[in-house]
Amino acid sequence: MVIHRRRGWNSPASAITPQDALLNRRALMSGSAGLLAAAPALAQSGAVPALPPHARNPAFEPGRALTAEREATTYNNFYEFGSHKTIARDAARMPRRPWTLKVDGLVENPREFDIDDLIRLMPIEERVLRLRCVEAWAMTVPWTGFPLAALMNLVKPLGSAKYLAFQTAQLPAVMPGLRQSWYPWPHMEACTIAEAGNAMSFMPVGLYGQPLPPQNGGPVRVLFPWKYGFKSGKSLVRITVQEQRPATFWGTIQPSEYGFWANVNPQVAHPRWSQATERLIGTNERVPTQMWNGYGEFVASLYEGVQGERLFV
Ligand code: MTE
Repeated sequence: MVIHRRRGWNSPASAITPQDALLNRRALMSGSAGLLAAAPALAQSGAVPALPPHARNPAFEPGRALTAEREATTYNNFYEFGSHKTIARDAARMPRRPWTLKVDGLVENPREFDIDDLIRLMPIEERVLRLRCVEAWAMTVPWTGFPLAALMNLVKPLGSAKYLAFQTAQLPAVMPGLRQSWYPWPHMEACTIAEAGNAMSFMPVGLYGQPLPPQNGGPVRVLFPWKYGFKSGKSLVRITVQEQRPATFWGTIQPSEYGFWANVNPQVAHPRWSQATERLIGTNERVPTQMWNGYGEFVASLYEGVQGERLFV
């Protein structure tokens, strides 16, 4: 991936969303039951309903200040809209309703979910998590979503299931990046069935208490916070449960730089740059990178006994 450094708009600390503002927003959201009841009609009109009331999961304390919302929503990697960071305006043209997510392959109950039905079915919560891009920038933001494991419990993977393949939408009318035909579209990412069952694997449908904006992967994405960000596919339309390890977007382009596992490790450099530190977007402060992005207590055991694999590239 090319690193484009942004200059000239570093946020002052005063721009960081304070916690009480977030909590007030949640209190406002708890009055949204009427809107939810009207969801089917809203979907037809293309409008995105407010998130249902939900609480913050205290198990995931970030230990860092939140990134300012403006920074996290205007500095994005989403190659379908272009290979630079300022794609938010173009991405706003992507309709988020109606939207369906198909879950198929080696499952007992294959289903195609309307996104609002899925949100109603899933246990929705907020998690404040660090996201570490392979390009060595990082952010800390409040995501709203549900555990990937809850979705798997619904569709019930068969005993032969080993991997999940995550497919991003391809909407040529609004995604100019798709014209870059040398990329292996659609964007595909993957994890193992054990990773999918881990409590840290999350499916965000919201950010900062609002429905997930298109540029951050709305209306639904996946998030593996202990892995480099490219593993966390955006704007998903399909999850296929399968026996073979899926080919991935970046792994197909450059396997020596973007491997299947891509777990964060400050001691294992990317072939072209060090991963020892990371730059916090918004403040540009440089801080040490943490092993497993700081989530080792939840995920390190997943990799015990995995032999002969490059776990950290
Ligand atoms: N998903 C799709 N479909 N296309 C992309 O280009 N970029 C990835 C990941 N998911 C990408 C994607 C990368 S490199 C990162 S770092 C994160 O999204 C960035 O997520 P954010 O914009 O919400 O910070």
